[in-house]
Amino acid sequence: MRKITIALPKGRLAEMTVDVLEKLGIKCEPLKTPTRKLVLSDGDGKYRFIYVKPSDVPTYVERGTADMGIAGKDTLMEERRDVYEMADLKFGVCRMCLAGFPGRQGALTRGTVTAASKYVNVAKTYFASKNIDADVIKLNGSVELAPVVGLADVIVDIVESGKTLEANGLVILDEIAAVSARLIVNKSNLKTKSAEILPLIEGIKRVINEETAENNGKTAKIDQKPTKSDKGAIQNDTDN
Ligand code: PRP
Repeated sequence: MRKITIALPKGRLAEMTVDVLEKLGIKCEPLKTPTRKLVLSDGDGKYRFIYVKPSDVPTYVERGTADMGIAGKDTLMEERRDVYEMADLKFGVCRMCLAGFPGRQGALTRGTVTAASKYVNVAKTYFASKNIDADVIKLNGSVELAPVVGLADVIVDIVESGKTLEANGLVILDEIAAVSARLIVNKSNLKTKSAEILPLIEGIKRVINEETAENNGKTAKIDQKPTKSDKGAIQNDTDN
């Protein structure tokens, strides 16, 4: 079996990916031990993991340095690399949004709007699709600051809990796209190493589907629990 190289985005998405790989029986102990090493192997030496900046994952996969990788849909939308998106991993869920101060939608249709974003390509594509004339300023982080200090009218950014927006007096003005982690694969390596890559993709999909079914089951059980008002109704029924 040829070794498979997997590009993992440093941080939480990598940790969640390791959980999935462990459920497939891959020995991930070396990946869970704190280290500054950027190239690691699983316990059986079948897989090589390279730890890269999240926005660089599609680059490593497009070039074939990594056979496959894990990237947020936000990164894929921004980087537009020539890779296959093979599966929605259903974790790292958030939303790509247009945000700004409440009640400012009107400003979007008057003159040129100034927008700040880490996702310049996403922002430009969004404004073009809405026929909004926009000056997009590239920032590398703390994007919510831009409207607060007057650098920009609005921002295009990912929103997870919404707490950063709320803490800075901002609200979602429009939802641009749903975001979650995706499994991506190099196009030619998928053909040349299909015997190794395809079973791994199928295994990952199976684990994700099982977890989704399990979570849906839990939600359904919670939904079935009597609510406060149901309890009242039950009580009343008994009273009658
Ligand atoms: C991301 C994003 C928002 C924040 C949203 O930033 O760019 O700023 O998280 O999360 P919330 O809706 O749960 O508040 P990140 O934490 O990656 O830091 P950054 O601003 O330095 O990019």
